[in-house]
Amino acid sequence: MGGAILSGLLESGATTDGIVVTNRTEAKAAAVRSDRVTSLAGETDPDANRTAVHGARLVLVAVKPAMVPDLLRELRDDFGRDALIVSVAAGVTIATMEELVPNAVFRSMPNTPSIVRRGVTGLAAGERASEQDAALVRALFETVGAVVEVPEDQMNALSTISGSGPAYVFFLIERLTEAALHLGFDESQARLMVEQTFLGASELLASSDVGPQELRRRVTSPKGTTERAIAEIAAADLTAVFDRAAASAIARAEEMAAGR
Ligand SMILES: NC(=O)c1ccc[n+]([C@@H]2O[C@H](COP(=O)([O-])OP(=O)(O)OC[C@H]3O[C@@H](n4cnc5c(N)ncnc54)[C@H](OP(=O)(O)O)[C@@H]3O)[C@@H](O)[C@H]2O)c1
Repeated sequence: MGGAILSGLLESGATTDGIVVTNRTEAKAAAVRSDRVTSLAGETDPDANRTAVHGARLVLVAVKPAMVPDLLRELRDDFGRDALIVSVAAGVTIATMEELVPNAVFRSMPNTPSIVRRGVTGLAAGERASEQDAALVRALFETVGAVVEVPEDQMNALSTISGSGPAYVFFLIERLTEAALHLGFDESQARLMVEQTFLGASELLASSDVGPQELRRRVTSPKGTTERAIAEIAAADLTAVFDRAAASAIARAEEMAAGR
């Protein structure tokens, strides 16, 4: 996820002087090193993280959630006073981070389409963050897509919609592809039809000044074939299915926060 945000930032045209990134392995560090990115590896330079945060105004923490507390403890004395600490780690709370560092902190939840700069990032600010700080962090995530600012207690809910959402969309794509196979199309035809339809419908929605309901109505002639198909899909009550899916995901996030 850190790599996705890095590539979005580089491609965005934003001024990108002074980017320093770290990984533990030199192989990963080498892959992102360029004339615009100083890239350090912990295995060849034990002070890599310290060097990276030295003088940084914004520190993006993109390690696995379980590693965040140790990393913050290790670096707390190296963060500048005005450094903003921004975590993308799922489930690591603002309170946890504020206990570990004296800085302003942010918790974020980007999603994987950030890799192609079509992401959605949920962003929650800690109490020490100013409006100006929030604007800076927001600008970072806007290089890889849209940003939704939410209170932290809505982060798990946001995560079940936009964080997990790409998985729901891929799941629907898989199911519709199976239906195409059942109709006798070969694998490549089925994939082409379904994937291009999802991409095309999404692009159409993005470029339209009307919403999905109206766009659906335009495909659905009265007494026509789409109307019959939609009646079948509506009978499956997908709203109730998604409500249950979201509730299950939120329950799991709460279990994970409790260490289960
Ligand atoms: N993937 C997603 O869709 C997604 C979405 C939202 C949020 N997130 C969050 O993003 C975080 C990372 O997830 P990921 O899937 O991107 O994991 P990942 O692919 O394992 O990336 C973690 C990166 O951190 C580096 N790293 C680990 N320990 C380090 C240390 N002490 N110092 C410097 N670099 C270190 C790793 O480098 P080495 O491999 O060289 O050790 C690796 O490149 C997680 O907290 C996750 O909750 C992920």
